[in-house]
Amino acid sequence: MSVLPELTERVRVLRDLIEDANYRYYALDDPAIPDAEYDRHLRELQDLEAAYPEMCSADSPTQRVGAAPLKAFAQVVHALPMLSLGNAFSQGDVVAFDRRVRAALEREGEVEYAVEPKFDGLAVTLRYEQGRFVGGATRGDGTTGEDVSANLRSIRAIPLRLEAAPPLLEVRGEVLMLRRDFDKLNERARESGEKIFANPRNAAAGSLRQLDPRISARRRLHFFAYGIGRVEFLALPETHAALMDWLASMHLPVAAQRRVVTGVAGLMAYFEELGAMRAGLPFDIDGAVYKVNALADQESLGFVARAPRFAIAHKYPAQEELTVVEGIDIQVGRTGALTPVARLKPVFVGGVSVANATLHNEDEVRRRDVRVGDTVIVRRAGDVIPEVAGVLLERRPLRDLASPLHEPFAMPRTCPECGAPVLRLEGESAARCSNGLACPAQRKQALLHFASRRAMDIEGLGDKLVDQLVDRKLVQTPADLYALDLERIAGLERMAQKSAENLLAAIVASRRRPLARFVFALGIRHVGAQTAKDLARHFGTQDALMQADTEALLRVPDVGPVVAASIVAFFQESHNRDVIEALRRAEAWLDGEVQLVKRGILEGKTFVLTGTLPTLTRDQAKARIEAEGGKVAGSVSAKTDFVVAGLLAGTKFAKAEQLNIRILDESAFLQLFHQGEFPQ
Ligand code: IVH
Repeated sequence: MSVLPELTERVRVLRDLIEDANYRYYALDDPAIPDAEYDRHLRELQDLEAAYPEMCSADSPTQRVGAAPLKAFAQVVHALPMLSLGNAFSQGDVVAFDRRVRAALEREGEVEYAVEPKFDGLAVTLRYEQGRFVGGATRGDGTTGEDVSANLRSIRAIPLRLEAAPPLLEVRGEVLMLRRDFDKLNERARESGEKIFANPRNAAAGSLRQLDPRISARRRLHFFAYGIGRVEFLALPETHAALMDWLASMHLPVAAQRRVVTGVAGLMAYFEELGAMRAGLPFDIDGAVYKVNALADQESLGFVARAPRFAIAHKYPAQEELTVVEGIDIQVGRTGALTPVARLKPVFVGGVSVANATLHNEDEVRRRDVRVGDTVIVRRAGDVIPEVAGVLLERRPLRDLASPLHEPFAMPRTCPECGAPVLRLEGESAARCSNGLACPAQRKQALLHFASRRAMDIEGLGDKLVDQLVDRKLVQTPADLYALDLERIAGLERMAQKSAENLLAAIVASRRRPLARFVFALGIRHVGAQTAKDLARHFGTQDALMQADTEALLRVPDVGPVVAASIVAFFQESHNRDVIEALRRAEAWLDGEVQLVKRGILEGKTFVLTGTLPTLTRDQAKARIEAEGGKVAGSVSAKTDFVVAGLLAGTKFAKAEQLNIRILDESAFLQLFHQGEFPQ
């Protein structure tokens, strides 16, 4: 049976759509279509190929998934060995590296380097023959690795076909798991009681080494190329940077943070720049890699032992360290949730000393089986709270039967702060103190939340002060804050006159905040900053919100039955109504001021883009602005609100300065999106 030309054409269109979506998502970090549409395309293609098997081919995106489980991985000898890198831990090490390079090259002037992130994943090599992906392997010992072709094929970031590729090309790079996919994986594992991974690298390694490719496919791995292995019949470009551009042009994902710099000063500036980006990157990195840019120079520098002389890895302080659990404390949160916290022998992680790490909840402690005396991995990734990522069971001290140490953890039955019974509701992971705001710990947390930056933003009202205010019964509810006077504040311990004046001024300044902030500040369970904005936008006034019944609440986008029930219950509580009434008298919020929360945070704002931004393409920057309701104009005028300027910004930059328009660099621009509301 011959296949209709329309069908052949449809199959081609679907394959292109799917691979283009992969490319946009992984290589450009600029998703083109929603997941649901992607899945629809894939299903349609699967159906067509099932009906017309002659249309199926090894490089169809349907072939990424579903290969049969293996018994073991075959061994592969690499065509060219996969090397490791020497490490630099200080500026001195970098200076010494650069000196060695210049000496070996007999170079007087400064050397040009291609610089890029050091991905914290697993090295792999991919083999393309006639532009088709034919398989790949792990690094192994550098000479021999494992054939993980089926699992690599399931990684959507890896193109199955390369346009205009040479007859043979080995691509070297790193398989890793994005932080968001790692979080999702662990969340699901928690729900179903499966193994929890300590960090994205372990999760990536565990997934790539799955003998069942179907499991690997579900784990959503990512790939970045950082070099090549063997290549046949191709004149290579002159520099590493150009080589990366060439790989990118074939739709292989390469680091958007790559640059070319000169000399040690350039290397150190990049180290700083990348370090500042580190916490915000979607993946873990453990350093920066510096490579002599000219490939001819790389060749003449050659190798020592297993590492190249032309490259080095400059490491950041580790995000993980080992330490010992000295105790497990219980903290009582704003909603009464009891959180177990590991008290640790202090240890430097990611450049700061860590003495406490969250253990999340009772089930989590049990699952990880963290006990006092254990040696644990402490992890501090990005800005998140340090956590105990895993226990080294082999280091657990032998149990002393007479001591309560090393016992499995158990939640206390009464609140450690107020002695009230602890309850754990069906279906909830948190155990809670049942005493509500009568529990001083909950009261303190509620006040801290009320004063926090994204809520009423009362600068200077930290935990030490709140402790005193509550313990001395000066403040019971947020409304009492507005009744404080200078004398009483100045009477607190360690409170100088000037700080007392500042605090009072901060309290006064927090009056008349927009409704959205106020609603968030109330600390209604399940109402985060975004939901608070949605509610403020929808109802306009506090009264309208308080009067809303479940049905009215469910009409707010993204508000579901759980959130609606929580809001209704909150406003039914007479204590809460009293506090709100007192806050009204204090003029704590401003009704109807909804312009901050219209549609997007950049609604009504006009941007002009100029120059080359360090990580975003112009389309990406434009998409982000438009997604938040902003507009992008081609030229600077009095109507322009912001100019986003990158390298080589020219006349637009000058014009913006002339007209006194705010100029943002990329990082200030990206900040706009993290603030969650428009800066005034
Ligand atoms: S280049 C000949 N570039 O680091 C040089 N390696 O310690 C070979 N890695 O096994 C490596 N990011 O897994 C290079 N941008 C990068 C890298 C990178 C991570 C890993 C790679 C390698 C290890 C060497």
